[in-house]
Amino acid sequence: MRMRSLLVIVLAAGEGTRMLSAQPKVLHKVAGRAMVSHVLDAALAAGASRLAVVVGPDHQAVAEEVRRSAPGAAIFVQSERRGTAHAVLAAREALAEGHDDVVIMYGDTPLVRGETVLALRAPLASGAAVAVLGFRPENPAGYGRLVTREGELLAIREEKEASLEERAIGLCNAGLMAFDGRAVLGLIDAIGDANSRREFYLTDAVEIARAQGRVAGIVEAPVEEVAGVNSRVQLSEAEAILQARLRRRALEGGATLVAPDTVFFSADTRLGRDVVVEPNVVFGAGVSVEAGATIRAFSHVEGAHVGAGAIVGPFARLRPGANLGEGVHVGNFVEIKAAELSPGVKVNHLSYVGDSSVGANTNIGAGTITCNYDGFRKHRTVIGANAFIGTNSLLVAPVSVGDGAYIGTGSIITEDVPADALAIARARQVNKPGWAVRLRERLAAGLTPKK
Ligand code: UD1
Ligand code: MG
Repeated sequence: MRMRSLLVIVLAAGEGTRMLSAQPKVLHKVAGRAMVSHVLDAALAAGASRLAVVVGPDHQAVAEEVRRSAPGAAIFVQSERRGTAHAVLAAREALAEGHDDVVIMYGDTPLVRGETVLALRAPLASGAAVAVLGFRPENPAGYGRLVTREGELLAIREEKEASLEERAIGLCNAGLMAFDGRAVLGLIDAIGDANSRREFYLTDAVEIARAQGRVAGIVEAPVEEVAGVNSRVQLSEAEAILQARLRRRALEGGATLVAPDTVFFSADTRLGRDVVVEPNVVFGAGVSVEAGATIRAFSHVEGAHVGAGAIVGPFARLRPGANLGEGVHVGNFVEIKAAELSPGVKVNHLSYVGDSSVGANTNIGAGTITCNYDGFRKHRTVIGANAFIGTNSLLVAPVSVGDGAYIGTGSIITEDVPADALAIARARQVNKPGWAVRLRERLAAGLTPKK
């Protein structure tokens, strides 16, 4: 059978006033990813062959986020906010392309899974003109109610327009609707704004389809998948649901989480098999951890790659561009940024390594700092393989340390060090025999210490 083509239109023109934010609602993040991008991910997972996003007139930032996360998506502007059907029609051009199925999703419903979108398409394949995703929230206030007779969907009634009887219905509209691509424009063009809000309600499409003698289907989804985000409280609830999902995915993928509830993931975190994550670890966006690595307690990892068998933390910070090879050790109170650590490198205590590359098996002693910033620009530090950087050294970039070189403890290295050399850059020690005795005698006699 031929695959049915699918256009997904994501509505993201809302202002999100209840977020009390300078930022458009759909750009708020859940698990490190903008809500609108989660929705686009689900659309792609459901097999969308075409994506369209409807944004508000001043939502340049939303358009940019869409271009980053789904470069092929068409962007349409709804210049006036006149309701969900009006928003869909902003993408008329995409609708007119003649897709088999059309699915409308809301940009503020970030937890919907691709498979649910797929399930919503099933009634279309068997002849329905429209299919609605239903759910049963604990408190249905604010949602459109699904009016049914003997399991058949007759209408969606917005709360404001609902009778007391209709308000008692527990089955609600989650906000996802699928349309027969040949019927969709005719249905939505027929929607009017004769309601209390003078808005064009997309939900009216159900009654219009029925009046045309077409069938409307319902697919039910679990509450925690269709929760919409309208406030910061709901944003935090969505975060909790997604974190629970990501923890489960990590465990099912073969990682050990010692205390799963204390580990925070990004949507794109990738853990290999036998990775162990100790309690209280935070993964920012863009992290991959290879098999057998251990992330110890209280570490913060973002934009980093951790090689197989590496050990990170406790209390380590990996920042974007940290690339740890196999078996690398990064210990407590160590920060790594934009640095390549080759296999076997050890940076075990109290160090900052930034804008650097470090060759295999080099040991970086406690308290080593790469001084990478001169107030204007960043500079690189290049350290070879099998080198030994003595404790409490400063490497003032741009600078290089050759393979096998030693840096004496407490050095301030400003010039390149050749391979296999010893560099010591600190004041020589001076011992003054008996000096302390003389000091004590002068003080006891009420004199001041000698200069
Ligand atoms: C909508 C549904 C309701 C459903 C609920 C689920 C309608 C008429 N009602 O109500 O049945 O139970 O979602 O959460 O569809 N948007 C635009 N342009 C507009 C208006 C809205 O882009 O002119 C976007 C919003 O950004 C949002 C989505 O459409 O992403 C839904 O709009 P919203 O105002 O939140 O609708 P609800 O009142 O929640
Ligand atoms: Mg809403």
